[in-house]
Amino acid sequence: MIGFKHTQHITLTVSNIERSLAFYTGLLKFPLHSRLETHNPDGLVIHFLDIGNGVLLELLSFDAAPEPTEWLPDDLQAGFRHLAFWVADTDVTHRDLKDKGVEFTLDPFSTDGVRLAFFKDPDGNLLELLSGQLAYKEIYNPRVASSPPGRQSPAGCALAFCHLALTVLDRQQAVAFYRDQLGFEPVGTLGVDHPGKMHITFLQAGNAALEVFSYGPTAYPRQHPQGKPVLGIRHIAFEVNDVAKTITGLEQGGVHITRPPRFFAGIYNSFFEDPDGNSLEVISGRPVA
Ligand SMILES: [Fe+2]
Repeated sequence: MIGFKHTQHITLTVSNIERSLAFYTGLLKFPLHSRLETHNPDGLVIHFLDIGNGVLLELLSFDAAPEPTEWLPDDLQAGFRHLAFWVADTDVTHRDLKDKGVEFTLDPFSTDGVRLAFFKDPDGNLLELLSGQLAYKEIYNPRVASSPPGRQSPAGCALAFCHLALTVLDRQQAVAFYRDQLGFEPVGTLGVDHPGKMHITFLQAGNAALEVFSYGPTAYPRQHPQGKPVLGIRHIAFEVNDVAKTITGLEQGGVHITRPPRFFAGIYNSFFEDPDGNSLEVISGRPVA
């Protein structure tokens, strides 16, 4: 298992950084944490935003337009699905954002003890608001279930990072990977009565949670384009004490390492894949504010 400290950031590639900053910092009120010029030939510029609970949103922008996202508006498609944020009152935040022209794909509704709404960012990435308390159908780990991650919004912001959702092809395999390789604890299940045999497993580690959707054989894989920048949710990064040692351990555990440890723009990092080919990063050092 990796020397997991916490979830550091979640990465989005955007098509128009000014528009995305207007949305994330102007409308959602996530403070700008830092900006990094990489001096890469492709013009990569990185903006880190504070999205609460100690997690950063990393926005990647390039000189040339990135490739369209491979994400489909269908949760049967494997891979990262949406980012979710706690709010005090879903209906209040929904009304406020809707009044400001934000497009909602699902207006507020109640399920599993929480009140949810779904909306889109300027590139069509799916975001979720939720308030209330998750009511698990089945609890795997009462100790972890009774001590969920906090709901620390940045100052002046109503939202706090809650979870990253992903659809997996093989639930057992995915849960074993995130538990045994990364140290996420399975907390419980949600929505076992939902139509379409949808099953949701919540995993928790430190300041973050993963919402794992599985559908049995009806889920289908995603193509993961290589090489060129692609729009959408790209990876999740975990801060560790020792990147090289962590990667050696993951490699020995049979994990596919996609980029060996390296120094990049003042930090030390490495990339690897989960069983569905989602990109994950381990990193030491935080971006300087
Ligand atoms: Fe969610």
